[in-house]
Amino acid sequence: MRQGYAGLNEKHSRGGEPILSPDPTPFERLGGEPAIEALVERFYAEMDARPEARGIRAMHGGGLEPIKFVLKRYLGEWLGGPPLYSPHRGPPRLRMRHLRFPIGEAERDAWLACMSAALAATVADAELRGWVYRAMASLADHMRNQAADSG
Ligand code: HEM
Repeated sequence: MRQGYAGLNEKHSRGGEPILSPDPTPFERLGGEPAIEALVERFYAEMDARPEARGIRAMHGGGLEPIKFVLKRYLGEWLGGPPLYSPHRGPPRLRMRHLRFPIGEAERDAWLACMSAALAATVADAELRGWVYRAMASLADHMRNQAADSG
């Protein structure tokens, strides 16, 4: 059991801190590092391919390799795997890190469409997939920094 993990609840998971590490952790249930690799690779492939994701894809600039590397480490840690993000990047404070990008409902939904497709392609266990998706949807909604109608 990791120290300082406050349990899976909306307040904590929405802040972007790692969620509870029950035994086995969501990281382990998903299949560990290879599963996170596959999920993140597919997520950015979806972002590259989907018309509705063109806007959020453009926010990321040219090459996706650096952000793939960071998101793999972040998600691994967030899902109860090895803490490979915080020692390098500091506390997640994800909302603050996203403030320089205008994120409204459309951007949130485009992000989640990519993640939903990536989860469907890489996670066979429907219950686990739904659980991870819901936790991510809550976090993605928390990332909004534009009024709902600013579209
Ligand atoms: C809601 C819509 C979202 C948009 C439009 C968005 C967009 C972005 C962009 C443009 C970056 C910077 C990439 C770069 O530096 O090249 C970024 C960084 C990042 N995003 Fe998101 N993001 C969203 C939601 C999320 C969610 C829900 C998560 C977590 C589950 C997440 C995790 C991250 C992480 C870990 C980073 C790197 C932070 C760091 O610099 O350490 N993002 N995001």
